[in-house]
Amino acid sequence: MQNNIFSGLFVGQNLVTIKEVDSTNSFLKTLLSNSKPVPEGTVIMAESQYAGRGQQQNKWHSEPGKNLTFSILLTPTFLPVSQQFDLTRVISLGVYEALRPILGDELKIKWPNDIYFADRKLGGILIETHLQGTRIKDAIIGIGLNINQEHFEAGAGNAISVKQILHKDYDLRALLSEICGNIEAYYLQLKAGKHLLVRNTYLTRLYWLNQQRAFRSNGVVFNGTIINVKDEGLLVVDNNSGLQEFSLKQIEFLNK
Ligand code: BTN
Repeated sequence: MQNNIFSGLFVGQNLVTIKEVDSTNSFLKTLLSNSKPVPEGTVIMAESQYAGRGQQQNKWHSEPGKNLTFSILLTPTFLPVSQQFDLTRVISLGVYEALRPILGDELKIKWPNDIYFADRKLGGILIETHLQGTRIKDAIIGIGLNINQEHFEAGAGNAISVKQILHKDYDLRALLSEICGNIEAYYLQLKAGKHLLVRNTYLTRLYWLNQQRAFRSNGVVFNGTIINVKDEGLLVVDNNSGLQEFSLKQIEFLNK
């Protein structure tokens, strides 16, 4: 089914909704490899995924019909590969800004791109890029958000949903439309060269920014304070005897 309910310029203008699919990211990838061109901003939204994928080879579980599971095609050919973390920032901020009026200031972006409410995970983002030389040819942006799900399996860790926070159902389409509009707005800022604005805004939304917290790296637990995210996306932590930089696999946040 195809329709157009969105007010932005291109993100969500071509919306494809599917009842069941393995993964919206995989579906969009296959669509791209077929000969017909896919317009930038195309959104593939599924009611149910039977093989949803998360970061670091994890699976993404989501109760059918209750949550948002969708993928967006962007073609940020203007962005050098060395600056691809700016795309992570844009997407995280777009999701954040759409949810912020509903959920308030306990909403945060957990570096690099998890959406957190208090100390619990509300959603995640999986960005898969295809490169052409030093540029990004296209990016498949997969977004999974827990909206109306009331119960999570024990294995779901610290998951939380909008319904568990607000105790009422939320309209999935309305939220999707808000998210697409906000992602488009930040994406256009980036395209217009406003890297600094995007980087600074992202930093101010970060979970645990400027707070003394516990982390683990290489099996060693230490206290430190997140003070920055480098342009290319490394997390900068002040460990009380100096500044250390981490990539995603090198550091774990330790909640009490
Ligand atoms: C994470 O591990 O936090 C990222 C989760 C990303 C899940 C979304 S759901 C829609 C899209 N399709 C997938 O298979 N994964 C992403």
